[in-house]
Amino acid sequence: MDVKIYEYDVVIVGAGLAGLAAARETTAAGKKTAVITKLHPLRSHSGAAQGGINAAIGKDDSVDLHAFDTIKGSDYLADQDCVELMCNKAPETIRWAEHMGAVFSRDEKGDIAIRPFGGQSKPRACYAKDRTGLTLLQTIYEQAHREGVEVFDEWYVADLIYKDGEVSGVAAFSLRDGQMALFGAKATMFATGGYGRAFKINSNAHANTGDALSIVARHGLPLEDMEFVQFHPSGLGGSGILISEAARGEGGRLFNSKGERFMERYAPNALELASRDVVSRAIMQEIREGRGVGPNKDAVYIDLTHLDPQIILAKLPELRELAITFLGQDMLKEPIMIASTAHYSMGGIPVDINCHVKKNQNEIVSGFYAAGECSCVSVHGANRLGANSVLEALFFGRHAGENIIKDIATLSPKPLTQNDAKRMLEEYTWVKTNNGDEHVPTLRSELQESMTENAGVFRTEESLLKQKNILQNLLKRYKKIRISDKSSVYNTELQEAIELGHMLEYSLFIVEGALARKESRGAHYREDFPTRDDENFLKHTYAYMDESGNITQEYADVVLGKFEVKERKY
Ligand code: FUM
Repeated sequence: MDVKIYEYDVVIVGAGLAGLAAARETTAAGKKTAVITKLHPLRSHSGAAQGGINAAIGKDDSVDLHAFDTIKGSDYLADQDCVELMCNKAPETIRWAEHMGAVFSRDEKGDIAIRPFGGQSKPRACYAKDRTGLTLLQTIYEQAHREGVEVFDEWYVADLIYKDGEVSGVAAFSLRDGQMALFGAKATMFATGGYGRAFKINSNAHANTGDALSIVARHGLPLEDMEFVQFHPSGLGGSGILISEAARGEGGRLFNSKGERFMERYAPNALELASRDVVSRAIMQEIREGRGVGPNKDAVYIDLTHLDPQIILAKLPELRELAITFLGQDMLKEPIMIASTAHYSMGGIPVDINCHVKKNQNEIVSGFYAAGECSCVSVHGANRLGANSVLEALFFGRHAGENIIKDIATLSPKPLTQNDAKRMLEEYTWVKTNNGDEHVPTLRSELQESMTENAGVFRTEESLLKQKNILQNLLKRYKKIRISDKSSVYNTELQEAIELGHMLEYSLFIVEGALARKESRGAHYREDFPTRDDENFLKHTYAYMDESGNITQEYADVVLGKFEVKERKY
């Protein structure tokens, strides 16, 4: 097959906030930029971010306090230099978004309104009602478009072109008609989002299958801190659809089946506004001990009925609609059912403070950048604070774009040849023609159910070893898949099969990382090692996959700074 070759200065994979912010900057600087995305940009998962974007703009707030809360929230695993940079630049990032045209909610004086979020000592989440991500996504998309970015939507990136230690683009095929192409670039950036879809109950879009992680790992490049998966306290009961932390920020209270406001026992000072890992574990503990609510006793209540209805109608309208639509429960009149849901990936592709992808602990890969949830910079460490993800995506996306502009004159990757499409072609053909007896949806359900069961909020050596075994078995069965749609036009069966291959591979990174980390830190909670162990594990995990799919791990130092490592209490 003849594969078309495109040439750009910059190729960005993913059209959420990080990808579009970078693309807006590089295009505005005159760099010929393509964004490749498997969805239309406005369907990117950034649009689902409800509650806000942090910046220390309140009168009695400060950048230092924002940085301190972020580092404490991370259970001290975040790299302090990166956190300080992000928090310092947060107010400017808000102004930039506003100048781009984003309309934030205002307070009674007409200033940008801020609301409290968990684990933060001051209200600092700027918001647009409960549609913050969507507002920002629409704005930045419009601006990137205005600058002339070229968008290849409904294209699936299947491989990275990585030769002789440098990246020179990607290989992709069109979901519309199967057309294959190579996209050559001086600078290639991944901004493909998180990996929450490995779990059954999750708040992530269907597209969040973490493809980039596996694509990178297949080239022997490392993944960092993959064991740290955030479980958001408030997913709608049964489905896991996000009910923003803004509901607790605006005053929502949690109750168990006995009518107890149980957070009084788990976080006596911060209560419902303790950090997410603390609240999620408390909810799941109440459920495990038989104090859950609902027909299956697998949820707790969040109650907002004591609030002025105007607060809900003006600030949380989408949350109310979601609960009515999916549960038939109106938060104006009654408490609604929630439980923890896999929400955010703290781990990902390791990058340095300027978004260069790392080849190992000490070296970077020439011509390769990453930002947003698929990357690990690491500003969230073992647990992310709410409203720091939209900030990370927007700030580091833009920062990646600025660094690409600075570096680009020094980048001259080798030209692409037809041979660079070989791996993509082989995988595409194998998936289409393999003639086994295993079905992708069955394997995917088994993966998601078992990950939730064995590598979720609570983990033990026994559950993780069981999960490792399940994954190894699923990987073997994956080799025997068969799809029935043999066409090239919108072949979603083929797409889902390729995605499943990625999900299985990076799930092994999550489990291996969790097995080796014999401590509890942030979102990683080992019941058999319930305390944090700074002596042995104040370290980032770097994991590599070899050609047989085996994973080896090493540890890298955390960048410490002026914030002293302490016990975390809320
Ligand atoms: O709860 C929320 O609104 C989610 C925000 C976030 O994950 O940052």
